[in-house]
Amino acid sequence: MAAAHDNDAAQKGGFRAWLNKRLPVDEFVESQLTGYFAPKNFNLWYFFGALAMLVFVIMILSGIFLAMHYKPSETAAFDSVEYIMREVEWGWLIRYMHSTGASFFFIVVYLHMFRAMLYGSYREPRELLWILGVLLYLALMAEAFMGYVLPWGNMSYWGAQVIVNLFGTIPVIGPGLVEWIRGDYGIADSTLNRFFALHVVAMPFAIAFLILMHLVALRQTGSNNPDGIEIKAKLGANGKPVDGIPFHPYYTIKDLFGVGVFLLFFCGVIFFVPTFGGLFLEKPNFEAANALSTPDHIAPVWYFTAFFAMLRAVPDQQLGALIMLLAIVVLFFLPWLDRSPVKSIRYKGWMSKTALVLFVISFIVLSYLGLKPASDLYVILARIFTAIYFLYFILMPWYTSVEKTKAAPERVNYHA
Ligand code: HEM
Repeated sequence: MAAAHDNDAAQKGGFRAWLNKRLPVDEFVESQLTGYFAPKNFNLWYFFGALAMLVFVIMILSGIFLAMHYKPSETAAFDSVEYIMREVEWGWLIRYMHSTGASFFFIVVYLHMFRAMLYGSYREPRELLWILGVLLYLALMAEAFMGYVLPWGNMSYWGAQVIVNLFGTIPVIGPGLVEWIRGDYGIADSTLNRFFALHVVAMPFAIAFLILMHLVALRQTGSNNPDGIEIKAKLGANGKPVDGIPFHPYYTIKDLFGVGVFLLFFCGVIFFVPTFGGLFLEKPNFEAANALSTPDHIAPVWYFTAFFAMLRAVPDQQLGALIMLLAIVVLFFLPWLDRSPVKSIRYKGWMSKTALVLFVISFIVLSYLGLKPASDLYVILARIFTAIYFLYFILMPWYTSVEKTKAAPERVNYHA
């Protein structure tokens, strides 16, 4: 009886009714897309979250095809990558999508983080959203580092050597920990094998989970916006924010435009400059790993070089490693360091503006220095800019509370 009734209902409403009875598709679209109101004044800085998701999908898809031909063993890894590049149909494209994707992931995520710093998106009530973001950043770093070891080029090998040895600076447990991570007395087959397992299974799951949590947290508070005011504070007669517009179709279409522009740049690099002058794929990695021949100059890929420069700025390796760690850990505390009465940089005073500019300059200069050999001048500059990097955070409670700010507006600034 009940089955017949179900069939009747499905026939009346068609497939859509049948489906909705079993899976709340329409309800989801209504609550999360058409009925979800986002601030109407989003600018180009708001493209990068969606683009980060796009790059994640590109990495998973290209990674699956790479894994079909890649061999995670000391003797076969390098050759299997060469095989992908020369023999596998479209193998070069799949590999360049993945290697370029890694750099673009960090470009997009750095711009995404900078946006949060510009508009105070880390401030209450979005502290947890920000913390989940920092965890995502850490997970991406681990994922990128392990992925870089897989082609088993000479820089893969020596990079892994330097980075894994950093764990050895931890008091007491350090040396044992290094051996445990490597699974051998040196960077070896066992290291490569476990990095492969972590890179293709464990970390992608962890990142996907964190992205989901990041989005749930975002949905709970709603997006911030360039004016840094809460649009939920002003609701219209329909119960929706007066300064909001339905996410779908307005922002789905806008994001699609962003995807188009992004793909122009992405494809431009893949097809015309895949190594990006040695920045995206480093020269020594076109040679197989060789334990007897150290590259002239060991440096990580550009997205890690700011932290690498901090490490080398300090003569004591233990202290250097600690400073490098603190440079990332300090990000977790940002929501509580900013004491300004306003969120957005638009209404903050000259001190906050200057501090943010200096912070960005310090990050760029450190990234550049991390690519260069450590000469005397280098070390002096790295120390100065490391100090500026940390002063941005350390002095923040002071300069954000003493400076003169402008009053934030009641309604968002929007010019159609
Ligand atoms: C895989 C990496 C990431 C993905 C896929 C991702 C995704 C997103 C998306 C889709 C949004 C909403 C759209 C937007 O505002 O652009 C968002 C917002 C946000 N994300 Fe991320 N994100 C990632 C990493 C990060 C990181 C590393 C941080 C900070 C450390 C961060 C902090 C934030 C903040 C604070 C917001 C709210 C911004 C606002 O409303 O003004 N995210 N994220």
